[in-house]
Amino acid sequence: MNFQTRVTELLGIEYPIIQGGLAYLAYADLAAAVSEAGGLGQITAMSLPNPEALREEIRKVREMTDKPFGVNYAIGNHGRPFADMLQVAIDENVPVVSMTGGNPTPIFEQLKGSGIKTLVLVAARRQAEKAEELGADAVMVVGQEGGGHLGRDDIGTMVLIPRVVDAVSIPVIASGGIGDGRGWMAAHALGAEGIEMGTRFIATKECVHASEAYKQDLVDSLETDTVIIKRSIGAPARTLRNDWTDKILEIESKTPDYESLKPYISGTANRNYAYEGKREEGFGWAGQVVGLIDDVPTIAGLFDKMVEQATEIRNRWK
Ligand SMILES: Cc1cc2nc3c(=O)[nH]c(=O)nc-3n(C[C@H](O)[C@H](O)[C@H](O)COP(=O)(O)O)c2cc1C
Repeated sequence: MNFQTRVTELLGIEYPIIQGGLAYLAYADLAAAVSEAGGLGQITAMSLPNPEALREEIRKVREMTDKPFGVNYAIGNHGRPFADMLQVAIDENVPVVSMTGGNPTPIFEQLKGSGIKTLVLVAARRQAEKAEELGADAVMVVGQEGGGHLGRDDIGTMVLIPRVVDAVSIPVIASGGIGDGRGWMAAHALGAEGIEMGTRFIATKECVHASEAYKQDLVDSLETDTVIIKRSIGAPARTLRNDWTDKILEIESKTPDYESLKPYISGTANRNYAYEGKREEGFGWAGQVVGLIDDVPTIAGLFDKMVEQATEIRNRWK
């Protein structure tokens, strides 16, 4: 069955399925496996310590697959400078750069003339319009169900996608709450031409950096088991609920300032859980789609199942 859209044409991939940037989790193994399965895998640049480490990771992907892949840049308010990290992607001539979390103007300026395809992850209609104005090749649009950082407007994927589809002429890639072939086909029904998934890709064999506890919690959790933290500091983000996140929410209700929250929301607290599985000492980002996750497949197995589901859905309408 043909799954070609403007997104597959743009990126040179078989299926319009993109692995989102995953802070501290998306390195060469995962990126290469997703690209090899026919989607677009990505390395998350800003989780790497320096430009040389990023260069090595890019080269590792190229040893594992000759298919296109991306490098993701999350450039939040408290993030470190990214120009030297972006220069590596340019020097290595990576096929795709994606970005999120801040004003992408400097990224577009630095990429000018490179020929690298650009994807911007946004969480609101006005941000999608801005990305198109800046010259983005496509926008990825994440609804409130999603894992990790979200928009401030609390708009779900089901409403946000058609709103953005109506506002821009570049291809729209739906994100947030998608974990199987049903969500994929629903996204297309809303006018999207591809999907991005984050949480679903963590619970896979090739997400080798995620602890077994994290993967098991994704399998065991229900759609009611996530919460939004960091709302009080203007950076809402969805995580699995545990005692640690209850503590964060308590601080947010009493002393909502960055300094009080910092030790609880730090990269260290995230890695304590994500890498080491220490449930009492940290937290892990995840979306409501955990309610749909009940296995830890290989990436190839996940793609096979999604394509099978999508094919069955499309055959229903013949
Ligand atoms: C653990 C985790 C880390 C994330 N880190 C990043 C990141 O570094 N850069 C980025 O663009 N998006 C990041 N995201 C967002 C995802 O790329 C994606 O937009 C989101 O997970 C989609 O929602 P879903 O989890 O329902 O699939 C992260 C999400 C998760 C779950």
